[in-house]
Amino acid sequence: MKKCLQNIDVKNKRVILRVDYNVPIQNGKILDDTKIRETLETILYLMEENCRIIILSHLGKIKKEEDKYRYSLKPVADHLKILLNTEVYFTKDILSNDLNQRVDELKPKEILMLENTRFADFPTRLESTCDPQLSNAWASLGDVFINDAFGTAHRKHASNYGIAKRLPNAIGFLVQKELNALDELIGNPKKPFIVVMGGAKIDDKIELIENLISKCDYLLFGGGIANTCLKALDFNIGQSLASIDYKTISRISKIMLENKEKIMLPLDAVVGSTYDENYVKYKRIDKIDDNDIILDIGIKTLEKYKTVIEKANTIFINGTLGFYENIKFANGTKEFFNIVTQSKAITVVGGGDAASSAKNLGYADRITYISSGGGATLEYIGTGKLIALDAMEEEEEIETLDL
Ligand code: 3PG
Repeated sequence: MKKCLQNIDVKNKRVILRVDYNVPIQNGKILDDTKIRETLETILYLMEENCRIIILSHLGKIKKEEDKYRYSLKPVADHLKILLNTEVYFTKDILSNDLNQRVDELKPKEILMLENTRFADFPTRLESTCDPQLSNAWASLGDVFINDAFGTAHRKHASNYGIAKRLPNAIGFLVQKELNALDELIGNPKKPFIVVMGGAKIDDKIELIENLISKCDYLLFGGGIANTCLKALDFNIGQSLASIDYKTISRISKIMLENKEKIMLPLDAVVGSTYDENYVKYKRIDKIDDNDIILDIGIKTLEKYKTVIEKANTIFINGTLGFYENIKFANGTKEFFNIVTQSKAITVVGGGDAASSAKNLGYADRITYISSGGGATLEYIGTGKLIALDAMEEEEEIETLDL
């Protein structure tokens, strides 16, 4: 077991707290603040211990300069201030000598949130490559490192792995809760074990699929991953979201070839069009036209997926099966939750979009456990490990006396 926050001395210390505040934001408004709320217990504990708290988080992916406008953490800092009812200082600075001085000025119980750690990924990918100099610079801001960012624990980045290598450390209350719940529910899943994957992140997920395919009995695909599979099988997917990386396409082809009996793909779809926002059509998957965009699974697919869901004892869902944010394309995701929550299976939902859709569509109460990690949970199921936690200290064994 990793060292836990409550078992280390943080009193009066400068604590670097890594959280996962990668939350959906539209026009400066946070659409789902669950990930922020889930870290409050750790923050309040640190305040109680008179710590000076330096919060680090990523938000989105920064691949070009313009991404920095879209992915500022300022709205998150403002929101955290409201949730805690206390000042949360925010600095655009992620790397300068002034930052060390700013941290030195913090008083006990005060919180300083830094701008998005992934701003250090452009123009050079320093955060995502776990750059040693960046790790040193961030580690120099604190005395102790607390990792409460479960959702990004499958990444070896400077702001999690890099800092943990350089400072005394422990896992926060959210990471503890997640590990305990996942160990209990899907550590040794009762079979048949079904994994359902949808959503828009595609290239990121290939390795996760490779790792977990032998652990599950069926893998049900929707969204961009299903489209990529269909493209690899030479179906016309029109203008639908799919990977354009030939390596991803060839890896997914190999997975499908070797696991034909396990992988299930959509038979039909609800499509939109690039040219007409009122165009919504139901189509067989082999009848997609060049201008169509697959935005939801269809009824035949739901029927097919239902046949395995009914037999399942454990189900893990990551990502959504359609573009559920638009009511016209929400039916597949909604009906699928309906089928899943009527089954006898233990159901775990992981990742921001899957969790938000379960909540927004009214199924959250009927799901066994909702995890803040999507990719992280898939990695944990597949390998039993999380790379960022590899750098964290282990709890000391307590010797028991034979009396
Ligand atoms: C998530 O939302 O799944 C986590 O925050 C990880 O995000 P990432 O896939 O951009 O690393």
